[in-house]
Amino acid sequence: MRPCRPCRPIRPCRPIRPCRPTRPCRARRERPRPGTRPSEHALKIRILGTAAGGGLPQWNCGCAGCATARRTGAARSQDCLAVSADGAAWYLVNASPDLRSQLLATPELAPPPGTRDTPLRGVLLTSGELDHTLGLVTLREAAELTVHATAPVRAALHEAFPVGPLLAPYTKARWHTVVPGEPVELAGGLVAEALALGGKRPRYAADLAALPAGEGAGEPAGGRTDWVIGYRFTEAGGRARAVYAPGLAAWTPAVDRAVADADVVILDGTFATDDELAERTGGARGSRGMGHLAVADSLPHLAGRPGPRYLYTHLNNTNPLAHPGSPEATALAPALAAAGAAVAEDGMLLDL
Ligand code: MLT
Ligand code: MN
Ligand code: ZN
Repeated sequence: MRPCRPCRPIRPCRPIRPCRPTRPCRARRERPRPGTRPSEHALKIRILGTAAGGGLPQWNCGCAGCATARRTGAARSQDCLAVSADGAAWYLVNASPDLRSQLLATPELAPPPGTRDTPLRGVLLTSGELDHTLGLVTLREAAELTVHATAPVRAALHEAFPVGPLLAPYTKARWHTVVPGEPVELAGGLVAEALALGGKRPRYAADLAALPAGEGAGEPAGGRTDWVIGYRFTEAGGRARAVYAPGLAAWTPAVDRAVADADVVILDGTFATDDELAERTGGARGSRGMGHLAVADSLPHLAGRPGPRYLYTHLNNTNPLAHPGSPEATALAPALAAAGAAVAEDGMLLDL
């Protein structure tokens, strides 16, 4: 809705500096001694949602887990995150279908009283999947909207699911192409570097033709590897590092390097075991084939890389870990704890 006269933007949302590759921030800097870390310029992460597509409970599912979630109210909204380096300029990572209620539940993302000056400076997408992009239309009231996505995801969101053209009459949207390995400098001292994680297209984009001419065009032999990405976040001072990878098909050497010196790693916890969904539905597809490395298969890697705090997110409603107290979750708990891992919860605030 167009704002009425008294509530027109008091001052326009601050445009972020144009995205350009920055110096890589890989160099490990000296960590401040405990108690000496300044409160500004450290990463703040608010986990907005922790469920896979459909959420928990899923509207059309009466399985034991969904029934318990309905009864107890222990619900999970769909995977989404907010991140900031200075506590003032915030970025969404993905835009879930539950975005409106997630934004309203997050005090950091509220406009200061009497203004329309949202702390949201943009959205970074990890994929073009509907559970990561449907929320973009929820942001149409913004005076302007900056969206960062890889070339194939940008193409998908302009052609197969044309949210780009759809938003154009509502808000001034700016689209930026994310290139894995090229850090992007964002507002408030936040730096995001994408990590190519896989070539799984959203189902709606299965038939999308070769990408249009321009930046990042083309489909190399063997397919693109940037349909699904993760992000490694640092702040300009290099004091805090976080990795976010809600869709992780395989544990590659690149993933191993990205988590090596991270403070926190928020990763794919869609399924507990590779055959979980097949067992529940009688289907044949394993979780890996769906682009999700099961918890049982990533845990050994976590155990071999001690140091970061690991948090599993994007939990499917079939995953027993989404149901605390279930016999399977109780059985898995010691292995998770031994690896420094836990299940992420909606609303968690991480102050790194
Ligand atoms: C996924 O994470 O694999 C997708 O979101 C599944 C889907 O919703 O189709
Ligand atoms: Mn998903
Ligand atoms: Zn269910």
